[in-house]
Amino acid sequence: MSSKQHETIYLEDYQPPAWLISHTELRFELEEEQTLVRAQLSVQANPLVSDKRRPLELFGDVDMELCRLSIDGEILEACDYQRKGDRLLIENVPESFTLECVTRLLPHENTALEGLYKSDGMFCTQCEAEGFRRITFFPDRPDVMSIFRTTLVADKALYPVLLSNGNPIESGEDGEGRHWVTWDDPWPKPSYLFALVAGDLAMLEDRYTTTSGREVALRIYAEPKDLDKLDYAMQSLKNAMRWDEDVYGREYDLDIYMIVAVDFFNMGAMENKGLNIFNTSCVLAHPKTTTDQGFQRVEGVVAHEYFHNWSGNRVTCRDWFQLSLKEGFTVFRDAEFSADMNSRTVKRIEDVSLLRTAQFAEDAGPMAHPVRPESYMEISNFYTLTVYEKGAEVVRMLHTLLGADLFRKGSDLYFERHDGQAVTTDDFVAAMEAVSGRDLGQFKRWYSQAGTPRLEVSDSYNPETCEYTLTVRQSCPPSPGQDHKQPYLIPLNIGLLAEDGQELYSGMLELTKEIQQFRFDNIASRPVPSLLRGFSAPVKLEYDYSDEQLLMLLSNDPDGFNRWDAGQRLCIRLLQQQMQRYRDGVPMTCPETLVTAWRQLLLDESLDPAMVTQCLRLPSEAQLAELAGVIDVAAIHDAREFMRKALAEALEQEWLMAYQRCDTGEAYSPDAESTGRRSLKNLALAYLMATGREPWLELTRQQYEQSDNMTDQLAALSLVAHSEFRETAEELLQEFYQQWQHESLVMNQWLAVQASDPTEGALERVKELAQHPIFDARNPNKLRSLIGSFCAQNLSSFHAEDGSGYIWLADWILKLDKQNPQVAARLLTPLTRWKRYTAERGSLMRAQLQRIIDTNELSADVYEVVSKSLI
Ligand code: TRP
Ligand code: ZN
Repeated sequence: MSSKQHETIYLEDYQPPAWLISHTELRFELEEEQTLVRAQLSVQANPLVSDKRRPLELFGDVDMELCRLSIDGEILEACDYQRKGDRLLIENVPESFTLECVTRLLPHENTALEGLYKSDGMFCTQCEAEGFRRITFFPDRPDVMSIFRTTLVADKALYPVLLSNGNPIESGEDGEGRHWVTWDDPWPKPSYLFALVAGDLAMLEDRYTTTSGREVALRIYAEPKDLDKLDYAMQSLKNAMRWDEDVYGREYDLDIYMIVAVDFFNMGAMENKGLNIFNTSCVLAHPKTTTDQGFQRVEGVVAHEYFHNWSGNRVTCRDWFQLSLKEGFTVFRDAEFSADMNSRTVKRIEDVSLLRTAQFAEDAGPMAHPVRPESYMEISNFYTLTVYEKGAEVVRMLHTLLGADLFRKGSDLYFERHDGQAVTTDDFVAAMEAVSGRDLGQFKRWYSQAGTPRLEVSDSYNPETCEYTLTVRQSCPPSPGQDHKQPYLIPLNIGLLAEDGQELYSGMLELTKEIQQFRFDNIASRPVPSLLRGFSAPVKLEYDYSDEQLLMLLSNDPDGFNRWDAGQRLCIRLLQQQMQRYRDGVPMTCPETLVTAWRQLLLDESLDPAMVTQCLRLPSEAQLAELAGVIDVAAIHDAREFMRKALAEALEQEWLMAYQRCDTGEAYSPDAESTGRRSLKNLALAYLMATGREPWLELTRQQYEQSDNMTDQLAALSLVAHSEFRETAEELLQEFYQQWQHESLVMNQWLAVQASDPTEGALERVKELAQHPIFDARNPNKLRSLIGSFCAQNLSSFHAEDGSGYIWLADWILKLDKQNPQVAARLLTPLTRWKRYTAERGSLMRAQLQRIIDTNELSADVYEVVSKSLI
């Protein structure tokens, strides 16, 4: 075991920077074979740090070529500084000076997609979290904020568009076909928000006037072929700008707001000041090529990055342990925005489903960490569901505890107090404390303790006194490095319903102790409790509901989220019973009560189709896995398939009626209502196909051929592709490929559909697809579509008994680690959960992790994940 030694960074070691950089001037000479970067930093001793002899500490990637380094014009020789790993130290520097540094970069060879790299033909950057140190030597930490002025020089024919943060202030020609543009960003910012783009780009332009009258030019850039796919992002941007003014009182603060779409990108998008860079998958949208889900993602991500301009950029993070300060808050903001633009309850259901499957699994796994982690080896590994989604739930709980008005006062105070500063999650909570007069000390455990809390609720009713009592016990399982947890402050929204569904009480309980009782007077008969309404806290709640009570809640709870949740609880219970039958070798059954309840939902035309869809969707295999003590992949798959088929057959007529009712022939529009109708239509079609009967294959084929939008076309394709009608499956997949081979994002879907096909021979198929000309192992979207989908969506194939899926994934990880460590570490996730599986599979998974760690020279990204999961 000779992996490189990777250093662990601890929150408790935080020290403020000894040196500040007031101004940073950058000049990029962009060429095909190399890029020269000249950086001039105005350096001053930090007046708040007393130890004046601390050396100047700069970060710079180990492989970065340093061409020249000077202080106030005097060249430094190699003996004047030390390079240790990714650090460069200079001792005995004056109180204030100019540091000049020239580095040589090879962007065309940069496959890690951090720092300066090429995406198709264009130059672009990704600096969060620590990518700026791959561009020049710099105090690359978020608490060093500097005013940037950037000049780009490049060939004018190849790179007519030259962009950076802020406003363009000067430009000119340089001879030999080269031109240059200088950009000036007046707002001090940390280096992780720096960006540049150079390329031959088309642009959609619009304008926006802020409430106070500032005129903002809105520009969205993409490759010329994608110019027709930018309108939805533009509309979403304008909606987001208006919303942030209305709901948070926040305006934009520059004259230009730019978004650039690039096809090679490690994540979704990046909030660089005034120059967001987006994964094409999160900005391009067109009815013909984008599904409803895709449209929603564009709207949400455009808003998310825009909201960062305040929650992240104007007020930024002191250090990377505080990442949730910007991400949790911003996810909460974008979720509320999407809820306001679409259906609030549906948005909540989607977010909670993600949290329950993926975040709960993360919080129970070897990489579990608090919302504010205490240590890391590689910060890229901490852009997690916990920091983002659980972090957003923590902010939501503050909103619930304080109420909307006080929360807004708190956010106003936070922005006012800390504008232009790099701060901590404690500062955020302190602003909420100041406006509410509350002590939120106990609440802060949500930031420091990992693991998903469990609430066990029981009740009693006294008919004599008409008293109803709820008893709530909270606990939280151990997580790495944290054996014992202290009780949390938990807002528990509840209602009490009479047997006939009438609401007797609704309100918020505040849990603070391990065990607590709540008494309700004047309750005329034993009520049914509706607990954790709207998912008011990210916990697992247990209460011993009868089937009848769940059915009553499913049809009567005034809280839409809990209506859905009651249905889910019932489905999960019934599925778990079938899994037990499967293991016992007893025939599985589908209870008539469920069929009756579903029939009612399907026939009630007054219900919102989007809600009906959510209610009639069985919990995913991943969610059932998360809930299992020991994950038995085959039992989960077979029980779920059995139920799906049984519900398909029992309600065949009703599915058809729902299909026909929702198949209105209206022109495509991505609004919430039409999206909801399409979702029920395609769910109904999926159940019809699950019967395995030929007429429905014909109907699906017809939809495939006649649809005018990607939502319906792709839904039909994937139903056929995952069916036993293999001949038609191959035919349609081939047809689809012929039609869309030149649309990269559509081809990602084509790969994902095949990778998630659970029928016989899945691994052979994905192996073949990896050889297909449209697959590109350097493109993260392609990797996620093929490898990610197979390992995370196709559980029965990935977990094949012989371990072949695990070997295939490990082969890929070893190959990708050299090329793109961030993506490699992410794709690795499914293997890290080996302890949760039955013994044979667990040990096969573990063997592959061992094989990875036995390899020399692993990146810090992969090393951290593998080593922690082997403990
Ligand atoms: N800050 C980005 C966001 O809006 C996340 C991000 C984009 C990122 N690219 C990255 C994080 C690369 C790490 C590495 O959420
Ligand atoms: Zn973000």
